Amino acid sequence: MECGSQLRLGVLASGRGSNFQSIIDAIDNKTLKAEIALLITDNPSALAIERAKKHGVAYLVIKPREFGSRDEFYIKAADELKSRRVDLVILAGFMRIVGKPLIDSFPHRIMNIHPALLPAFPGLRGQKQALEYGVKVSGCTVHFVDEGMDTGPIITQAAVPVYHDDTEEILSERILKLEHKIYPEAIRLFSESRLKVEGRIVRIQGNFPSDASLVNPSLGL
Ligand code: GRF
Repeated sequence: MECGSQLRLGVLASGRGSNFQSIIDAIDNKTLKAEIALLITDNPSALAIERAKKHGVAYLVIKPREFGSRDEFYIKAADELKSRRVDLVILAGFMRIVGKPLIDSFPHRIMNIHPALLPAFPGLRGQKQALEYGVKVSGCTVHFVDEGMDTGPIITQAAVPVYHDDTEEILSERILKLEHKIYPEAIRLFSESRLKVEGRIVRIQGNFPSDASLVNPSLGL
């Protein structure tokens, strides 16, 4: 980030974009000092595009199948993000595994949110996997992205109870409410240069009083 300037975000989303919206809202209500320089989507009918239009965020549709290889798609995405001087890339329901050209262009500067308590239930439909496994607690995880599937260093997590009569939809909705809290919070910590990555451990510098309450907001700790 240039000295004294505001954090510039690039968002990658494939669908609904409710996490994208939570970041827009956090910026609007000034709990997050950042600007969204670009939305990239691989899906021309993503609802995220409507959100971008409504809030005056520049967006690009980049279709992977128009490129000769997966790497070329990610080279194009990285070029677009770099040309807009993006500091941090946010995956918000981006339904692809990020390719090496993008990861190498933004080392420890790509975040993802996953709807389970990693390392449990990586990959698709983490909420369904949690229900089928029979866990009593699940939640969501914000992590830096590496080349694996939901394997990068964990920044923050929040937990919710799982009840015996939950459906995938009900559990997903309960988790989503927390996603919308912890994702802007993780970006805020990054914007304040408070995240230090040591191997696969992310250390949060300074007081982080909301840490415990994020683990279980109902405790109000
Ligand atoms: C969220 O559940 C997120 O955890 C996962 O994909 C979903 C995206 O939802 N990575 P939305 O598009 O942000 O509403």
